[in-house]
Amino acid sequence: ENTQQKELIDLHEQSVKLYHHILTNTKMGQPALDYLHKRGVSDETITTYQLGYAPAQRLLKPFFDERKVDFQLLRKSGLFSEDQDGNLRDRFVDRVMYPIRNGTGQTIAFSGRLLTTDSDMPKYLNSPETDIFNKRKVLFNLDLALSNIRTGEPAILFEGYMDVITAFQAGVKSGIASMGTSLTEQQIYDIKRITHEVVISYDGDTPGQKAIKRAIDSFNEQKSHLVMKIISIPDGMDPDEFIRKKGAEDFKQLIDHAQAPIEFELNYLKKQYNLDSEVDQSSYIAEALKLISRVDSSISRDLYLNRLADEFSVAKQLLQQQLAPLIKQSA
Ligand code: UTP
Ligand code: MN
Ligand code: MN
Ligand code: MN
Ligand code: MN
Repeated sequence: ENTQQKELIDLHEQSVKLYHHILTNTKMGQPALDYLHKRGVSDETITTYQLGYAPAQRLLKPFFDERKVDFQLLRKSGLFSEDQDGNLRDRFVDRVMYPIRNGTGQTIAFSGRLLTTDSDMPKYLNSPETDIFNKRKVLFNLDLALSNIRTGEPAILFEGYMDVITAFQAGVKSGIASMGTSLTEQQIYDIKRITHEVVISYDGDTPGQKAIKRAIDSFNEQKSHLVMKIISIPDGMDPDEFIRKKGAEDFKQLIDHAQAPIEFELNYLKKQYNLDSEVDQSSYIAEALKLISRVDSSISRDLYLNRLADEFSVAKQLLQQQLAPLIKQSA
């Protein structure tokens, strides 16, 4: 961490305080505070996460100008956008501000959420890449989750910031999230370093289900002894909505009953086929066998084979014959 990086982090810490002050202590911040309260975010959580509000009236630039902060430093901070004449303007305008911290708790970026989603601007606006922020490397909430993961709680991987925050408020404090992108190699590497068990808890909608499949594949590419489990959130809800509607206990139940990846993958695969058609049935069985061949335990493989044989009334021996060469290939 060099001098400039320290200075950039310092700018972010000052911005956190300013945005938080605007949210919690000013009239300007009231609509944003109401928005968060309406979403069920408590004042304690607002403090824990140092949530803030960037008002419609730009104020970060004058704030730092008054403190004689170097123009070039401001330029590199990502907190401003630059117009054609080279003037800097606050990047975040009329957004609820979520500080993004690194693993050691330093704020290195922001994500700002619109109060309503009826405009054509992105719902969440993230800081651009800077000397201190590489979104491919950051796991949201890792600093707070780490101590809970160290005591043996599985890491819970969410899709969104609000899923992490609502879970934390409900007592599930080992949640992390990637930065709105699919999981990167670096993030998977970091997750493997800190835990032996990860529970994937993405949104219950179609994009969420697709993302689960991608995440399973990515974890599988980097072989390890990590235990992966999958939560399926019902009715297209996301974890934030589920916890607010059903409560913390129901969510903990979902964690306790999380599925093995193969269960999720077989279900997911099934949805791609019309199993009334015999052609589809045999393609499904072929693909299902490929998935089953990747299961490590031979006992588990046998159980899934039994299930498949029952489900489609085919001879188990026939399935076994098809499975055998697949296992050799993947070993
Ligand atoms: P979602 O669309 O599921 O949003 O995107 P959400 O987390 O449920 O947000 P709320 O509940 O409406 O506030 C999941 C994640 O994708 C990223 C964010 O990290 C978000 O949390 N994202 C989404 C963006 O970066 N930009 C966007 O415009 C939308
Ligand atoms: Mn209120
Ligand atoms: Mn989503
Ligand atoms: Mn949501
Ligand atoms: Mn969501």
